[in-house]
Amino acid sequence: MKLVRLPMLPVPSHEPLTDTRPSPVSLVLYATYSPATSPWGVRAWRWHIMAGQVRVGTISLREGDTHVITHLLGHIGFAVDAAHRGRGYAGLAVRALLPEAASLGVDAAWITTTPDNAACLRTLERIGCTFVEAVPIPPWYATWPKGERTKLRFRLPVPP
Ligand SMILES: CC(C)(COP(=O)(O)OP(=O)(O)OC[C@H]1O[C@@H](n2cnc3c(N)ncnc32)[C@H](O)[C@@H]1OP(=O)(O)O)[C@@H](O)C(=O)NCCC(=O)NCCS
Repeated sequence: MKLVRLPMLPVPSHEPLTDTRPSPVSLVLYATYSPATSPWGVRAWRWHIMAGQVRVGTISLREGDTHVITHLLGHIGFAVDAAHRGRGYAGLAVRALLPEAASLGVDAAWITTTPDNAACLRTLERIGCTFVEAVPIPPWYATWPKGERTKLRFRLPVPP
């Protein structure tokens, strides 16, 4: 897989994702996992989400088509630090990650969330994800003890 250090660009205001101007967000790779070392048991990568020189969150890419990946965990996961929320950085980071997903030969990525995660749901809508279905979380899954019972599965086309 070709890992690209994406360019650092200035930070404008929170622009719509249809905007064709350069993204205010860049990604800096900081962890690469084999299936043996991965927290998810599959090959995976983690990037810092950068807004200019400031680290504002993390985004992960997980490889594979196991049930856990496609129905529970998703190929892509992200978090923006609380102090930096409200500027749409997560959606911009997903957009910035798509070339990496394409380099894995993925033509559409699964992203999952829970019904109560309004910020994530809006992020997924904003970046053009399609809602596919709600699935039950099995009791053996990591988030069951936290009370999570349902995952919502979204599909995001990955441009070649
Ligand atoms: C989900 C998350 C990454 C989004 O961070 P972000 O990019 O800063 O998102 P924003 O705060 O800019 O919100 C994105 C959109 O959701 C909306 N939103 C945020 N909180 C909301 C809420 N409580 N209710 C309704 N809408 C909300 C925002 O208004 C914005 O909408 P807009 O695009 O129409 O302006 C962040 O909330 C987070 O890290 N949460 C914890 C980890 C997590 O849930 N990760 C995702 C797992 S699927």
